[in-house]
Amino acid sequence: MRRPIIAGNWKMNKTPAEAAALVKELVPAVQNANCDVVVCVPAVCFSAVLEAAKGSNIRLGAQNMHFAKNGAFTGELSADMLSASGVTYVIIGHSERRQYFGETDKTVNLRTRAAVAAGITPIVCVGELKDERESGYTNAIVEYQTRMALTGLTQEEIKNVVIAYEPVWAIGTGLTATDEQANETIGVIRKAIEQSWGKEVADAVRIQYGGSMNPANVKGLMSQPEIDGGLIGGASLKAPDFTAVVMFDR
Ligand code: PGA
Repeated sequence: MRRPIIAGNWKMNKTPAEAAALVKELVPAVQNANCDVVVCVPAVCFSAVLEAAKGSNIRLGAQNMHFAKNGAFTGELSADMLSASGVTYVIIGHSERRQYFGETDKTVNLRTRAAVAAGITPIVCVGELKDERESGYTNAIVEYQTRMALTGLTQEEIKNVVIAYEPVWAIGTGLTATDEQANETIGVIRKAIEQSWGKEVADAVRIQYGGSMNPANVKGLMSQPEIDGGLIGGASLKAPDFTAVVMFDR
């Protein structure tokens, strides 16, 4: 049995004070969650979130990191810096980073490997564009992105990676993949992992759905056998909404 994992992706939202206030509301509300709970926050909020979440079941995540150990990369953060700041999860290859910041399957792979090497759990995002789905390329795209992202990792390392299947057309649009579409494509991703790294690895990897997941649709999505959790954007910014998603089984 894979333990579900629900992660909030705050994107470029919240000051440290706002972050602390949100997490303080979440702490008692999600303390009995039957899933892993993560908030991926702007780096300037790391210490405020860590302080507010102290002693709770809420884990700290980042939204990106560089793959180099250190060096002349103005504005970037390394895996070691994240780790030393209490970060235990990091989103890698979110579609907004692929779209606006030149992230490629190659750099997604480098970042994934650097996170794993530093002991940080990567949440690797894959997903097709609207026209790719309409042209029938969804499976080919997610299979390729997944295999590229995981290349060079050992089977044991891959077991601990989290994949987020996020159809790009469903992010921030209010459009959600149907429960069946999400389940089917996540099944395709799992099959690709099985073909490349074996069934034991594929059965262990947790694969989230992301894209307009919210209190109204979480139950249907989470009742699908392949879906192991969610990566939540908009609905992670308000405590009642994120709580309702995290406590989906109540
Ligand atoms: P959304 O974002 O829930 O606002 O669609 C999800 C994501 O981008 O991870």
